[in-house]
Amino acid sequence: MHKLRLSFILKNIREEEYTTKKGKIMYRVKTSFTTLLLAVLFTLPNLGVTMTESKDYTSKINSLLSRMTVEEKIGQLSQYSGTELTGPKGGKIDVKEEIKKGRVGSLLNVTGAEETEKLQNVAMKQSRLGIPIIFGLDVIHGYKTIFPVPLAMASSWDMDMIKQASKAAAIEASASGIQWTFTPMVDIARDPRWGRIVEGAGEDPYLGSEVAKAQVTGFQGESLANIDTILACAKHFIGYGAAIAGRDYNNVEISNRTLWEIYIPPFKAAIDAGVETVMSAFNDLNGIPMTGNKKLLTDVLRDKLGFKGFIVSDWNSIAEMIPHGYAKNRYQAGKLALDAGLDMDMVSNIYCEELPKLLKNKQITMEQIDDAVRRVLVAKAKLGLMDDPFIYCNKEREKDLILNKEHRALAREAAEKSIVLLKNEKNLLPLDKNEIKTIALIGPLANNKEDLLGPWCAKGNPKDVVTLLQGLKNTLPPKTKVIYSKGCSSVNDVKDNNFKKAIEAAKNADVIIAALGESADMSGEAHSRSNIDLPGAQLKLLKQLKKTGKPIVLVLMNGRPLTINWSVENIPAILETWFLGIEAGNAIADVIFGDYNPSGKLTVSFPRSVGQVPIFYNHRQVGRPQDGPRDKNHFVSKYLDVPNSPLFPFGYGLSYTTFEYSDITLDKKEISKDENLTASIELTNTGKIAGKETVQVYIQDLFASVTQPVKRLIAFKQVILAPGEKQKIEFTITPSMLEIYNQDMKKVVEPGQFKLYIGTNSQEVKEAEFNVK
Ligand code: NOJ
Repeated sequence: MHKLRLSFILKNIREEEYTTKKGKIMYRVKTSFTTLLLAVLFTLPNLGVTMTESKDYTSKINSLLSRMTVEEKIGQLSQYSGTELTGPKGGKIDVKEEIKKGRVGSLLNVTGAEETEKLQNVAMKQSRLGIPIIFGLDVIHGYKTIFPVPLAMASSWDMDMIKQASKAAAIEASASGIQWTFTPMVDIARDPRWGRIVEGAGEDPYLGSEVAKAQVTGFQGESLANIDTILACAKHFIGYGAAIAGRDYNNVEISNRTLWEIYIPPFKAAIDAGVETVMSAFNDLNGIPMTGNKKLLTDVLRDKLGFKGFIVSDWNSIAEMIPHGYAKNRYQAGKLALDAGLDMDMVSNIYCEELPKLLKNKQITMEQIDDAVRRVLVAKAKLGLMDDPFIYCNKEREKDLILNKEHRALAREAAEKSIVLLKNEKNLLPLDKNEIKTIALIGPLANNKEDLLGPWCAKGNPKDVVTLLQGLKNTLPPKTKVIYSKGCSSVNDVKDNNFKKAIEAAKNADVIIAALGESADMSGEAHSRSNIDLPGAQLKLLKQLKKTGKPIVLVLMNGRPLTINWSVENIPAILETWFLGIEAGNAIADVIFGDYNPSGKLTVSFPRSVGQVPIFYNHRQVGRPQDGPRDKNHFVSKYLDVPNSPLFPFGYGLSYTTFEYSDITLDKKEISKDENLTASIELTNTGKIAGKETVQVYIQDLFASVTQPVKRLIAFKQVILAPGEKQKIEFTITPSMLEIYNQDMKKVVEPGQFKLYIGTNSQEVKEAEFNVK
């Protein structure tokens, strides 16, 4: 009670600050140290509590646990979706009744300050112990202000921007009653057929780790007790992105080595950044479904990686161990999941139904249940919910903060930074606003709002999206004519009956801008494709447009790498814009007309053909590499019909300016195993405009006890240079960057020769050699 009052007083101080600065919309509502101190000093004598006590939730949780019935405990481990629950016989149950019985620990997909407050009220006032509910939602790339999809934002390589975008999403979600997002998806993806490649940071474990860190710290902030920070959730543990043949939910086979080298690092980074929750994956890994995989959930995730928070299953995945053929029935599935160390059941209702029976039959222990409940309650306490359960239900904040001006501006910045310039023959781009008189804007995505939000767009509303047509109009002088024609009624339309109008428009224009790609629902969960060409009749349309002889700028909008060989050979300028969110149209127009000089770099390889998949730059060295000309030596690792190389490599992206890399300078040619090395290059902007370059550093251990990647990313830096400007860029290569897992899976630096590469992408690099003694 005392703590509750203290926290209400503190909250009111924060609220007051908030209201006084409301006009400006504060990002973080902070109590000044002096006010806080005064409040505490004046309040403590009256309340008879100490500062330490007020922060210590262990005793509160212990006391709660000692008073909870088995049903109430298991309730804390149960999460349901929406306000109607599906009962044991498939009938509907009123969620309020369940909350009253203390059988709901968390709800997902319930949003809004008003709605969450109502349900929280039931929990607080009508359930026996009044334990607050955590409200969760997939806030993947924004809540209402929708940012670019994660794969796009990763292409910015701008960790601060990613952090700010996550923070903005947390501010909006928390203002709308949400305290938990199921983000970041840190699954490494090497297969563009897999639809969920769009939700992650791409193929590289180092970059993936940096992005994971930025997202977790963005969402969780400095303290979860702040009203504008929420729990993050690293998912899907583990291997989900390696679904065989890129088919979502498919089986996964990963060697222990690859697991540790490639798939675990981003989870480790999220954990080190303090991620409070982890979601188990749907897939089985080497034959064991992750939802019931004790070795990985407990021995690896908790014991080896040091994860201290709680683990939630994926949607119904406890029950899915039955079709997996791993559990005979729901009873056994419940036992397998709890034994594995899984704390919260997302929607399967198995914990609620089966754990009481399992306990009665001594198949599980009360200690197991208590441990899981404790972890969930700790998260609630950290969020401040145990002190003030209504802290996140604030209609004023909701009204002021959601889709505010600052967030929109950030969404535009994020969108600009996410765009990757794939090709720019004869500097067709940027177009000159003042010279161009007529533009033909063609394509099913040219004036589309829905798809630009991308998959998983939380509370995003198409009406808030700036389309490309609108973006062009916003930036162009009124005298410039934009003739818009769809060409295809949708991306999947196979007919060509709308081509004529589009070609007519093209003939009358100085330049064609073709907006082609995928619809938002062609990537994301359960949206894998076996053919990753431009769908429908779009390529046919593009070929017809080409015949007009007019210059073409191809603006791609899609959620995965596409096979675009013809376009790359025939279209002079290509922009990869992914799905850029609500500011898409403005951002693309900014890039097309040079108001923003593109700086994005791919974080996934673009294959030439789907037959090259899985394709990734950091593959191991082989015994018969294809080094020389293709026809010289037949018996090498190659295809007969396509080069080994991707169409566009990892790290690739052009700018409107050019950068020249000097050779690498190393401060030493030989180092000992525990010594740092300094590597530097001189980077010069050799073009005519200012630009940003992402300088990438790769390492190769030339001879090791285990075959090593031909290259792997170990560092990068972003630099902005004025035309003609030259800058020395220095990197400290630390021993940990040289470490490999040896044959005993120990991380070691093995003496011998190393190659260091620095360059503009994973293929175009300078190289230098050094020795480790
Ligand atoms: C299933 C998805 O795999 C997961 O990523 C998501 O968080 C949950 N559904 C909840 O919507």
